[in-house]
Amino acid sequence: MYKSASYDEPLLNKLAQLSDDKCDFVNNIPQTLKRNKKIKIPHLDETQIVRHFHRLSQMNYGIDSGMYPLGSCTMKYNPKICEEISSWSKFSGTHPFQDCSTIQGNLEIMFELERALCEITGMDFFSLQPAAGAHGEFLGMLITRAYHEKRKDFERNEVILSDTSHGTNPASVTMAGYKLIEIPSTDEGTVDLEMLKKALSTKTACFMHTNPNTLGIFEDEILKISDLVHKAGGLLYYDGANMNAIMGKARPGDMGFDIVHLNLHKTFSTPHGGGGPGSGPVGVKMKLEKFLPIPRICKDEKRYYLDYNAKDSIGKIKGFYGNFSVLLKAYTYITLMGKEGLKETSEIAVLNSNYMKEKILKSKLYELPFKKLRKHEFVLSCENLKQKKNIRAMDIAKRLMDYGLHPPTIYFPLIVKEALMIEPTESESKKDLDNYVDTLINIAKEDPEIIKNAPNNTPVKRVDDVGATKNPILTWDMI
Ligand SMILES: Cc1ncc(COP(=O)(O)O)c(C=O)c1O
Repeated sequence: MYKSASYDEPLLNKLAQLSDDKCDFVNNIPQTLKRNKKIKIPHLDETQIVRHFHRLSQMNYGIDSGMYPLGSCTMKYNPKICEEISSWSKFSGTHPFQDCSTIQGNLEIMFELERALCEITGMDFFSLQPAAGAHGEFLGMLITRAYHEKRKDFERNEVILSDTSHGTNPASVTMAGYKLIEIPSTDEGTVDLEMLKKALSTKTACFMHTNPNTLGIFEDEILKISDLVHKAGGLLYYDGANMNAIMGKARPGDMGFDIVHLNLHKTFSTPHGGGGPGSGPVGVKMKLEKFLPIPRICKDEKRYYLDYNAKDSIGKIKGFYGNFSVLLKAYTYITLMGKEGLKETSEIAVLNSNYMKEKILKSKLYELPFKKLRKHEFVLSCENLKQKKNIRAMDIAKRLMDYGLHPPTIYFPLIVKEALMIEPTESESKKDLDNYVDTLINIAKEDPEIIKNAPNNTPVKRVDDVGATKNPILTWDMI
């Protein structure tokens, strides 16, 4: 074994001495917290280690490896410049306990980001605190409650949702203590106005909806919907996870929504997955401003500052001021794209989705329940394949992996049987879209046995999803 230039102890000690004393966290760890036995690790040279980690990295699949058309998740282009800027030590090294006078630049970025999000959504004020879309929904429900209670309207304990809702919607509503009223969609896949009218009452606190909805269909009747909800005394909450479809084209604020969350990690570009990192800022109309979480980012003639002085605020919902690195990437992305760039992004996202949808439908191998025009995503059904060849959506998804492609979202929304939910995003080339479509078509023609045994080429084969959830093995050495 040759001697590699690894991180040996004398070198570490030397670097520790050369570095600033205040950063010497290694030597400042209390003795009681330090390991007192030598750790047992294999003795390997650099080449072996590099090859090991390189091989592991190649087992992974990310947006840099290929197309990632996970419907509803919006896995889009994440410019490397955003990553680079967020890694600048003057940003990444900021400590949340620093005095405001030393983080004027960060505060300015957050202040301007709030203004940009207001313009994009048509809302009056924003809070950047929530750490994800679901967190934003929960905050929205707390604001809803604060609003009704302030008006002494204590009877309103119901929130209405459509059956196309994303799973986090009912979860957030229930966690906030509201009673959930789910209404079925029409045969066209949109909100059923008659059902909505029946559900509305003096108990309605809010109607929560995504537009375009999770079928990728824009609600043409949104102004009628908001009118009905407002007349009944309720608020409208906009789940902005699908904002990638309508940036620069339509604004939830103009549709009548009172509260909005955006998934910055989707629409505004941060690589995410497996639970983070995320950011789900919440915007509100003027009448709800006073309920926003503290601190608010404010500005006077001389400086930016954090204002904790808001007696009607629902309080604090996240440590410090939000997930700053995601905010920084979103700010960079929005600034780089500009108004026209964001508009074009949505136009191409919608074009890509419709291109794929039409090409797949021509094959007549997959079905498209609900016929209305789609926006940035569409949901196919594999029910036909299930009936004829006993192939399920899960089998198709697994087989795509054999071709080096990431599967789409499956089995959601729940109202589509054997659902494949495809969202190609604006950043995919025609070549990649064609390749994905051709592969889906070829798979549907393959021998069912091959499909049912897939994936064959991946490091991990088909796992027992239900077993894994019910009986998780969480220790690394069992693998
Ligand atoms: C329509 C919709 N709403 C809400 C969410 C929740 O967002 P997050 O995953 O950031 O909590 C998602 C996430 O995929 C979504 O697709």
